[in-house]
Amino acid sequence: MSHISHDQPAPWWKSAVIYQIYPRSFGDSSGDGVGDLAGITERLDHLTWLGADALWLSPFFRSPMHDFGYDVSDYCDVDPVFGTLADFDALLEAAHARGIRVLIDWVPAHTSIDHPWFVEARASRTSPKRDWYVWRDAGPAGELPNNWTSALTDGAPAWTLDEASGQLYLHSFLPEQPDLNWANQEVQEAMQGVLRFWLDRGVDGFRADVIHNIGKDPALADADPKLAKIPHCALNDEPVTHAYLRDLRRLLDSYPNERAMVGEVFLLDTKQVAPYYGRGDELHLSFNFPPLFAPWEAARWRECVEDTFAVLDPVEAWPTWVLSNHDVKRHRTRYRSEARARAAAVLLLTLRGTPFLYMGEELGLEDAEVPPERVVDPGGRDGCRAPIPWTRGPSHGWPASPWLPFAPDAAPRSVEAQRGDADSVLHLYRRLLAARRGSPALRLGSMKILDGPEGLFVYRRDADGDRRWVVVNFRDKPTPLELDGSLSVEVASDGAEEGEPFRGHVGADQALILA
Ligand code: NOJ
Repeated sequence: MSHISHDQPAPWWKSAVIYQIYPRSFGDSSGDGVGDLAGITERLDHLTWLGADALWLSPFFRSPMHDFGYDVSDYCDVDPVFGTLADFDALLEAAHARGIRVLIDWVPAHTSIDHPWFVEARASRTSPKRDWYVWRDAGPAGELPNNWTSALTDGAPAWTLDEASGQLYLHSFLPEQPDLNWANQEVQEAMQGVLRFWLDRGVDGFRADVIHNIGKDPALADADPKLAKIPHCALNDEPVTHAYLRDLRRLLDSYPNERAMVGEVFLLDTKQVAPYYGRGDELHLSFNFPPLFAPWEAARWRECVEDTFAVLDPVEAWPTWVLSNHDVKRHRTRYRSEARARAAAVLLLTLRGTPFLYMGEELGLEDAEVPPERVVDPGGRDGCRAPIPWTRGPSHGWPASPWLPFAPDAAPRSVEAQRGDADSVLHLYRRLLAARRGSPALRLGSMKILDGPEGLFVYRRDADGDRRWVVVNFRDKPTPLELDGSLSVEVASDGAEEGEPFRGHVGADQALILA
């Protein structure tokens, strides 16, 4: 177990607020309508003003962009659309100068079909790199090796025929994203080399894409037919992955300054997620998606939170919390009201664990409506990837018309408009981040769930005499609530009565931090 003794400061990744940037849609320095690394550097003031501790960059590596960068053709170079390695170094330096740590996205389970490794592997059945990927023959009547289905393909099989060599290769996602064969030692070494390349450049860690999908059943056995329609990557949960993760953790630990890895463990049950932390010797953090898919109901959220602590606490694993990302509808859209989205922000930033913000949620952005002729993502995720509106003006701070349309109400939702309005969603996020920074209880304290009236989720955070109560009203009716002691409102999701005594009353769709 990796025990943190009480006189040591907690590791940064436990108390940080991590802000996800989707590089195509953040800042555009080149003026081609697609965001780039220098454009991110130009906009770092936004993160400093907000108070974010770290940023996670979705992929900016060389890629033919079938999956907008999650199909990597060179892990150690920047795609020209995003700039150059020098631009990356400048971004890293500028972020570090502001005290902001940088995580980059590492895509270890599959490459692009254009990666030189795959080009070499597919060249012949006897290629030295053939075994870097997963190849099988079809059966006599063309039968596939198993019933696995792929993601982003409307349920197509996870196997595609390579006409030239007559064999099928495995792909958990698009046919343009062949799965790497991690059972091959050379693959492990090559992917570790990628980590070293970026660690040596100074990154603080990685978000590891579908990390649970690197280990495969050596027998490639059929999935349970009842589940076979679910993309196989959401079912793949193999013991061998833990051995790979322990090697990766040793590699990270061999570097100074607590380099961290947060894994995307896209499995359907939190119980399956816990083992990926190992005994403090695998992932530092793991995403846990059941809460992301939970409806906005007090009982469901309470259950998700209790389930999370029930399985993570016994293995001393630190939770993460996410409301939105580049793969799902934004929570402002899912929860269908700004008041609920604001209350959800209070929840996200006060639960025990590390919160991840997805760029634009601090503006209360909804998904963009993307007309059919502008749809570009095979997985239908364009709406949540719309560009950040920086200014009120017609092009919202983008030099050219961006690659995707803006979300609705881009002018009033722009950073410029909201910075000038103390009641805005943006200012609420800033107050929440400041409240966390100022409170050991909110950052690292224990969390006790309290029983409250139906529709409310109430909990208390405690650390060494510092104490906060959090109340989230999931309903659109005002609700009375009695709490012991004389408490005052530190942050209110609607800004009401901050700094004033708590009067035993929670507004409709309101969430409060009380001190
Ligand atoms: C998960 C990423 O978040 C998603 O955007 C991508 O399509 C898949 N992994 C495949 O890499």
